[in-house]
Amino acid sequence: MDKFIIRGGKPLHGEVVISGAKNAAVAIVAATILSDEPCLLENVPEIRDINICIKILYEMGAGIKIIDKNTIRIDPRGISDPVVPYDLARACRASSYFFGTLLGRFLKADVPLPGGCDLGDRPIDQHLKAFAALGARHSIDGGAVSLRADKLIGSQIYFDVLTVGGTVNAIFAAVKAEGLTVIENAAKEPQIVDVANFLNSMGADIMGAGTDVIKIRGVKHLKGVEYAIIPDPIEAGTYMVAAAATKGDVLIKNVIPKHLESITDKLRKVGAFVEEFDESIHVRCDGKLMKTSLKTLPHPGFPTDMQPQFSTMLTTADGTSVVTDNIFDNRFRYVNELRRFGADITVEGTTAVIQGVSELNGATVRATDLRAGAALVIAGLMAGGTTVVEDIYHIERGYENIDEKLRGLGADIVRDTDYDNKRMAV
Ligand code: EPZ
Repeated sequence: MDKFIIRGGKPLHGEVVISGAKNAAVAIVAATILSDEPCLLENVPEIRDINICIKILYEMGAGIKIIDKNTIRIDPRGISDPVVPYDLARACRASSYFFGTLLGRFLKADVPLPGGCDLGDRPIDQHLKAFAALGARHSIDGGAVSLRADKLIGSQIYFDVLTVGGTVNAIFAAVKAEGLTVIENAAKEPQIVDVANFLNSMGADIMGAGTDVIKIRGVKHLKGVEYAIIPDPIEAGTYMVAAAATKGDVLIKNVIPKHLESITDKLRKVGAFVEEFDESIHVRCDGKLMKTSLKTLPHPGFPTDMQPQFSTMLTTADGTSVVTDNIFDNRFRYVNELRRFGADITVEGTTAVIQGVSELNGATVRATDLRAGAALVIAGLMAGGTTVVEDIYHIERGYENIDEKLRGLGADIVRDTDYDNKRMAV
């Protein structure tokens, strides 16, 4: 399997352009099902999770035309059988968006339980609660969820926990339901606003996305549109942290600085210089970083998807940092790998205590999930000597051309497709 070989210890310098947001794009690709006409999507990141969602659409009968690597035309009119294949559903979490979109269009859906990053328990009870409120019945048989409705009727949906996926799925099921749906305690992440903007541009009537109350008045038809996905805040945040962690100087282009405020604020607190422009952000760091305490929270709080990268940066900060991540049960699985670099971290429950060390040393490590994999790449860039990151397919689920973009910033990183054979030959 492919690996990244990194010769670290070099500051990152230069400019990097951020791709479209994975977590918005996977939802919007699935949402094309709700359209009566073809849609043209731009700024779609070329990543594995998108390829899986496109394959699901294709297998169900949609017409797919790849215009260029970031532009895709999707014609959903050929879909007749709302059944998602098991192996594709298992390959990513975003397959859960086919619950809401298929139900919204066909009043039925058969979708295997989704896969995705192993971050601990990832229930779907809130998704099912939303569908039930709109009038759908469900059963789970053989690892697949079967949803059926005679019709969907607008209703009040209150989420017991803040859920991004649940909120998006409730919007999908409600957008063509009869009458008014009110979602309370809705998640507010940027991808929810992007999904609502996409659907509204098709003729939907959604108000309040980005706040905790979203109102949706159902419509009968949604038309085809051209739509550009927002830039990826987590990819941008990852390069911001990589710049600071390597004591570099990087201009990160094609970003929405407002989406990055919690990351900007934390980076400034630990001693990095961050300057915001209209569509770019400049991060520089020339001294030692300082300890901090950090707690992940739903948007606009510090995102759980940036926790592994930020924690990795803190391994060489001055003093003892405390990082708490309560969003998922188990988002510290990468810590064992980080210790191989010489990091001093102890984890108790959902809190990590990071004692800053003077330097990291290159190691052979294994990506345990997407963001953990990005964090290990950052550790490799920070560390002296050579690092090998294995299982990089996790990283490629969500980062477009990460090795190429890092090389553009002066990093010594290569992708090795033949590493195991060469090692055997030695
Ligand atoms: C989305 O996952 C993202 N994935 C995740 O990004 C991100 O970490 C997460 O939101 C939180 O921001 C996509 O957008 C594809 P949730 P999602 O429903 O929707 C609990 C990445 O690295 N919950 O907001 O699955 C759940 O267990 C990925 O890009 C229920 O209890 O997350 C968790 O504790 C990883 N019941 C909390 O809510 C439910 O029915 C938040 O989960 C649903 C969720």
